[in-house]
Amino acid sequence: MYKIAVLPGDGIGQEIVPEAVKVLQACGEKFGLAFEFREALVGGAAIDATGHPLPEETLNLCRESDAVLLGAIGGPKWDNLPVHLRPEAGALLPLRKKLGLYANLRPAVLYEALIDASPLRQEIVEGINILVIRELTGGLYFGEKKREKIPGGEKATDTLTYTTQEIERIGRLAFEAARKRRKVLHSVDKANVLESSRLWRETMTRLQEEYPDVELIHMYVDNAAMQLVRWPRQFDVIVTENMFGDILTDQASMLTGSIGMLASASIGGKVALYEPAHGSAPDIAGQKKANPLATILSAALMLRYSFNHEEAAAAIEKAVVRVLEKGYRTPDIMQPGCRLVNTEEMGERVVEELLAL
Ligand code: IPM
Ligand code: MG
Repeated sequence: MYKIAVLPGDGIGQEIVPEAVKVLQACGEKFGLAFEFREALVGGAAIDATGHPLPEETLNLCRESDAVLLGAIGGPKWDNLPVHLRPEAGALLPLRKKLGLYANLRPAVLYEALIDASPLRQEIVEGINILVIRELTGGLYFGEKKREKIPGGEKATDTLTYTTQEIERIGRLAFEAARKRRKVLHSVDKANVLESSRLWRETMTRLQEEYPDVELIHMYVDNAAMQLVRWPRQFDVIVTENMFGDILTDQASMLTGSIGMLASASIGGKVALYEPAHGSAPDIAGQKKANPLATILSAALMLRYSFNHEEAAAAIEKAVVRVLEKGYRTPDIMQPGCRLVNTEEMGERVVEELLAL
């Protein structure tokens, strides 16, 4: 029996998470797995109900579970609260930190059927399969922050800190991942300017001695942003610090057609967390327009990484491919000649294909 904490959160999180749960339930039937889903409040939804974006109860539920499925958090309604009570700084970041989830895996895979949905030309995006590994509990997100009054206004400070140990653990994870794939690892930094990046680069170079079978390529982040649209197929595994990873993964998602396709797994602690890489999309919330595939594909990652059930994970991914091949599309990936479906219908189509496999 696998215990899954279900945290739909805000905005479209409320619509996409139930679809992923449906798909997991179908997987349970098909592969004889038993799941227990327990729902809890997080983000704005939790602020409205309890006054805090990450209630103790939610954190405890996550700690007691075998995995966490999260939708998305945040929205304009809570943007003006003091920073520690905002959904991002008050819930998502502490959740990642408290669960020890220092590695965020974001696979950007182009599905054949979506080749024309990418804003880039077919010959550029064809065959893309990139795994971005983003450091998730260090860097600017968690460094000391300060605001001071100075003559003429204010002074705001964020600090970017990394320790050898923090770089080594994410570095090892990245080398191990690269070893199981094409054995090419791009380490992205800004070592020509930042001290933390120089330590990052030195540490990665030293680690490489333990992985002589993996080719290590250092790349500056500005160049990496350019190379991602110029010739994305050169990348297999990318490892980078928190902020660079945040930016590059949004960019990488568009290679695959839509950010609505980008799944993610945050690992490193006892309990891992699975969430789509996109946000709560308040502009389309409540309209059944959201693409649930990133969340459904995150559920596949849960089966793979937390429950070690490769067969079920691959079955979900295959079902998604089938649904796309049959031409079903949410608005974000809609193309001429395809069939527009809403969030729920998309989830149902995946369940159908999964059960038919
Ligand atoms: C992400 C998101 C979050 C981040 C926000 C919501 C704090 O953009 O998961 O990429 O910056 O990490
Ligand atoms: Mg982001």
